[in-house]
Amino acid sequence: MTDRPSIVIQPDPSSLADAAARHIAQAIRDIVGAGRRCSMGLAGGGTPRAIFERLAAMDDIPWAEVDFYYGDERCVPPDDPDSNHRMASESLLTPIGAAPSQIFRMEAEREDRDQAAADYAALLPDSIDLLLLGMGPDGHTASLFPDHEAIGERALRVIPVIGPKPPPWRLTITIPVIEAAAEVIVLAHGANKAEMVARAIEGTRDLSVVPIQAAIPGTWFLDEAAASGLKKD
Ligand code: 6PG
Repeated sequence: MTDRPSIVIQPDPSSLADAAARHIAQAIRDIVGAGRRCSMGLAGGGTPRAIFERLAAMDDIPWAEVDFYYGDERCVPPDDPDSNHRMASESLLTPIGAAPSQIFRMEAEREDRDQAAADYAALLPDSIDLLLLGMGPDGHTASLFPDHEAIGERALRVIPVIGPKPPPWRLTITIPVIEAAAEVIVLAHGANKAEMVARAIEGTRDLSVVPIQAAIPGTWFLDEAAASGLKKD
């Protein structure tokens, strides 16, 4: 297990989005160019929108060969303003004309959340090719929050959780799904995340305290504000 991610620091959120979009686009081209479909796990929250918009504006990505999954979803209808699927649809899936057969939505609005989680786990690939993750100032990622029993879940790949970030009920992938991904890409900007970025990358490893550390072997795209707590080389 490598103990430090690859870190790409850009001056501001816009250039971070440019760099991340270019990296993701090339990764998709490389996977499809090797003759197979690409599975892409979409991050939720607000940060990915700018990256998705840039990806949708590129004209040389073989989108027909990409299948879209989610790292987590809020337990709201898919057209709710809080829905991660709504954000991804608006900024990427609709603009690129993704077919319904390519989109594997977490049905987190279902009343039986345990069954919805089990159904989603059954369709997740064993290893997601490109897993995009955001992180909160508290070190959470997807809907895996610090000091939460979900961190210790190693058998189930998708579970319902109640988290401190509204809306409270969510479905989330678990740590084994992050660890099994072929490539993990972390997207984070803002000074409010600087302390936790430094803690995650330079502090002792403890997923129950800093869940985003599960993404340490990945590539982290940061703006200067989010990277400001890191030791200068
Ligand atoms: C969610 C996300 C969550 C998000 C972080 C960062 O559904 O809320 O999966 O993990 O990535 O909270 O959110 P921002 O990108 O809005 O800062």
